[in-house]
Amino acid sequence: MNNKALILPAETANISTMAKQLQAGDIAAIPTETVYGLAGDATNPAAVARIYTAKQRPARNPLIIHYASIDAMREDVYITPLAEKLAQAFWPGPLTLVLPQTPTCRISDLATAGLDTLAVRVPAHPVTQALLTACQRPLAAPSANRSGQLSPVSATQVAASLGDRIGFILDGGPCERGIESTILDVSGDIPHILRPGSITEAMLTFVIGPVQYGQAGVVDAPKAPGMLYRHYAPACPLRLSVDKPIPGETLIAFGPGPIPEGFASVLNLSPQGDLNEAAQHLFDYLYQCEQSGATRIAVMPIPSEGVGVAINERLHKAAEAVVA
Ligand code: TXA
Ligand code: MG
Repeated sequence: MNNKALILPAETANISTMAKQLQAGDIAAIPTETVYGLAGDATNPAAVARIYTAKQRPARNPLIIHYASIDAMREDVYITPLAEKLAQAFWPGPLTLVLPQTPTCRISDLATAGLDTLAVRVPAHPVTQALLTACQRPLAAPSANRSGQLSPVSATQVAASLGDRIGFILDGGPCERGIESTILDVSGDIPHILRPGSITEAMLTFVIGPVQYGQAGVVDAPKAPGMLYRHYAPACPLRLSVDKPIPGETLIAFGPGPIPEGFASVLNLSPQGDLNEAAQHLFDYLYQCEQSGATRIAVMPIPSEGVGVAINERLHKAAEAVVA
């Protein structure tokens, strides 16, 4: 593992030191309830440039901006009545809204890749909240992995991916949600889910009425530029909806069974068949497969309902990305 980065426990003193460093233009990995983020002052072009360089992220792929509260973002985005409703229902929490920028928007053009919209969210993790409040500025934070690698759900995973490229990792423990935020574009007339997550379509519909999927990442690719890029590609072939093994395969199982037999090893995302628990374990188990030197990964069918939609979206991308 690359070990230059210092892993700091998320104690009050470390949070305030980190806040000062972020104010000064440094970048650092921070916990959120979804996945770890690589944070920098979104109003500081030099800090934002450091994020892109560390991640080796294409400059055309804009970043999500994190705020302590909805009030903290009013200078930067137009909060439409629809957005107010969503914010009341889901913030702080794992929902990102794409909103029109205001003329007074303070966010660096580098972070928005020149778009006239901004992807914003108020994270629920108490450490992220404390940090945002202490540093008193919006933080740009993409997932804290090199482009094309798994989104990290623990400080150790951040260190494995970016440890030689950043100075500090604030350790807030394992991420509760384990999967990136739902992205909902509410900048136009019809709300569009650009990336499914643990705030499900049904939860959104309950609050604002019907939303469209827009086949995230295909039809709406120009709207969510990140979807144009290769996402996580596992280090070995990955098969989906598997019920029979290929010799040597590691099985990622789901539910109480029956679990197909004959696999080299088995990791069950949720023995009780709880999709939220499965989302929480997904990246962690894929990471464990990679670390254990698995040569092939097989995944059992996972129901495409609720957060299962997001789990399957990540798995399909991973399976497609494999260059066999
Ligand atoms: O849960 C999360 O959202 C995590 C944590 C750290 O907050 N962050 C995250 O960021 O997943 P990232 O950079 O890995 O994914 C951000 C996605 C990209 O697909 C990007 O293209 C999209 O958000 N995005 C950013 N700004 C956008 C905009 N103005 N319009 C549409 N999509 C946007
Ligand atoms: Mg990412």
